[in-house]
Amino acid sequence: MAHNERVFSGMQPTGSLHLGNYLGAMLQWIEWQKTRECIYCVVDLHAITVWQDPKELRTATRLVAASYIASGLDPKKSILFNQSQVTAHAELAWIFNCVARLGWLNRMTQFKEKAGKDREKASVGLYAYPNLMAADILAYHATHVPVGEDQKQHIELARDIAQKFNSDFKDSIVAHGHDDGVFFPLPEPVITGPATRVMSLRDGTKKMSKSDPSDLSRINLTDDAETIARKIRKAKTDPDALPSEPAGLKERPEAQNLVGIYAALTGKAVEDALGDVGGLAFSEFKARLADAAVAALEPVGAEIRRMMAEPDEIDRILIDGGTRARAVADPVMKQVREIIGFIGA
Ligand code: AMP
Ligand code: TRP
Repeated sequence: MAHNERVFSGMQPTGSLHLGNYLGAMLQWIEWQKTRECIYCVVDLHAITVWQDPKELRTATRLVAASYIASGLDPKKSILFNQSQVTAHAELAWIFNCVARLGWLNRMTQFKEKAGKDREKASVGLYAYPNLMAADILAYHATHVPVGEDQKQHIELARDIAQKFNSDFKDSIVAHGHDDGVFFPLPEPVITGPATRVMSLRDGTKKMSKSDPSDLSRINLTDDAETIARKIRKAKTDPDALPSEPAGLKERPEAQNLVGIYAALTGKAVEDALGDVGGLAFSEFKARLADAAVAALEPVGAEIRRMMAEPDEIDRILIDGGTRARAVADPVMKQVREIIGFIGA
């Protein structure tokens, strides 16, 4: 049976979203919403793989939901919910813990980065994190997953899990009416945002990240105009003027990052952006970049602040989304239980 196209993606509620999330993922999400059935999730179960203060977790969950909506996600059209409301995620993740192999998870680079030097002290959940992510996607039979570059390896793992499940349970899958033996579709990563890897403003070789201790390293969607301009003024640069061709950005990670951000914010190709700003000194370019960033982000920040003043309204949207998400995932889980051989499914 061919699977209908369906989009799924998620972000963790661990702090405020930043320009990397916005350019790398969010703008693609909004684009897909125009033409496809989309399910967007605030992945609170993933967040607790590292300890979270309960009050802050609640606030961050609302903040991420408000950020999606302020960026253009329409919760009437797409399904928007927080992951913990739908038990299918945790249940399917357990089943996938039994499908995925230790060797596969041992290769995951994000675990190595996040666990740091003292791996023995990392939670078991942090290690099994990619299996939960595979469950998020496959519980909805999603076919397309728009993300930033750093998530590619996890989606490849989700494909491997889908394939192994389909092959381990092939006969049972066929016996349950899927004549081609395919129960889970193999999800495709979609990595085509205007800037799929936005780097830190303090170090052009490091990813812009929520977990960077320096707030100057990132532009948050909630930053006001003055803060945005100040962070850009303080961004690390090199002493040379900007080149007029993309080739001149090679070996200049900070210049490459700032020009990439400028191009993405103004909706231009890097080549065309350099047509505008090539030859400028950084001081002049940064003023233009700040104008572009403020123009794009200030209305988003204002809408987030407006929504955060009405937390009950955000909760109502998430709870409605949870009901709609369960209506999609529950029938899939019923079939999974039957295929595996559980009684009482
Ligand atoms: P996270 O903040 O890790 O929950 O990531 C949420 C989404 O934003 C994922 O699709 C990431 O790939 C994407 N993302 C995070 N940081 C960046 C970045 N610096 N550049 C581009 N995309 C990013
Ligand atoms: N792991 C992703 C990140 O850190 C977030 C995520 C969880 C996700 N589940 C997902 C993304 C399912 C896409 C699909 O960015």
